[in-house]
Amino acid sequence: MMKKNEFEQLLNEKLDKVTDSRVRDAMRYSLTAGGKRIRPTLLYLVLEGYGEDPALGNETACALEMIHTYSLIHDDLPAMDNDDLRRGRPTNHKQFDEATAILAGDGLLTEAFACASETHASADKVLKCIRMLAQSAGPSGMVYGQCLDINEDKNVMNFEDIRKVYKYKTGCLLSVPLAMASVLAGRDEETTKQWEQIGFDLGLAFQIQDDILDVTATAEELGKSNSDERNDKVTSVTTLGMDVARRLMNSLYEDCLRRCAEMPGFREEKISELIRSVMIRTY
Ligand code: IPE
Ligand code: IPE
Ligand code: MG
Ligand code: MG
Ligand code: MG
Repeated sequence: MMKKNEFEQLLNEKLDKVTDSRVRDAMRYSLTAGGKRIRPTLLYLVLEGYGEDPALGNETACALEMIHTYSLIHDDLPAMDNDDLRRGRPTNHKQFDEATAILAGDGLLTEAFACASETHASADKVLKCIRMLAQSAGPSGMVYGQCLDINEDKNVMNFEDIRKVYKYKTGCLLSVPLAMASVLAGRDEETTKQWEQIGFDLGLAFQIQDDILDVTATAEELGKSNSDERNDKVTSVTTLGMDVARRLMNSLYEDCLRRCAEMPGFREEKISELIRSVMIRTY
């Protein structure tokens, strides 16, 4: 596994190549503010579990974190969740301005694809990864989930509706690192599908946990505003109650652990360790 500071350096180097401007400053501000880097780490650990050189995933790992960061910058905008704190800092539009924050998101999204296209793998693998990334991030993936999220009708939403919103808004970008790593490691389509499914359950567990932490942790602990109540959000906690939400989250994580351990030809120790650390995360 690549060391954390090496990945941070890699992200900085990607931005060094971008034209110097206020928008690049805003991109760097949010991209290098920290963050748990779970999506890139998942990609690296699946590559490693198949005995591949993790460096094979460097470009797609950076692309994932750029897309994820763009989704957070836009998610925090006044027109969406209207939040002031992210990754322990003022949100992008607070530090810069709304127009610059919109452009920083646009810039990160676009640059992510330039970055992914530089992956050192065969052209067919790279093309496949780029397509998967686009589908997971776009209007049939995360963007679709965000669309459902902001248009939800609080009076008729039940947990099944919520599950669908979470599959897209969070599941897609947690699933695609596992699936892209499977492609880069030369696994067959069936195996890639299995990783994708594990990723969706991991994403659901992760978003339920995000809802729980929004209630139980302080903004200071989270490094971000807890705004679900203020925004009158329907969440896993409001629909299921805290205890059921917590139990479901744990059983989803346990299920992911079991399925990782059952993947043929895969050494699951490190990814299991990551999932276990995510299970007990406090931010
Ligand atoms: C936050 O994602 C948004 C959700 C999908 C819940 P993370 O919790 O991975 O945020 P960072 O990257 O660590 O800031
Ligand atoms: C975010 O969901 C999902 C994204 C695609 C950005 P939330 O709105 O719950 O994420 P946080 O709590 O602001 O990180
Ligand atoms: Mg949101
Ligand atoms: Mg939000
Ligand atoms: Mg949240």
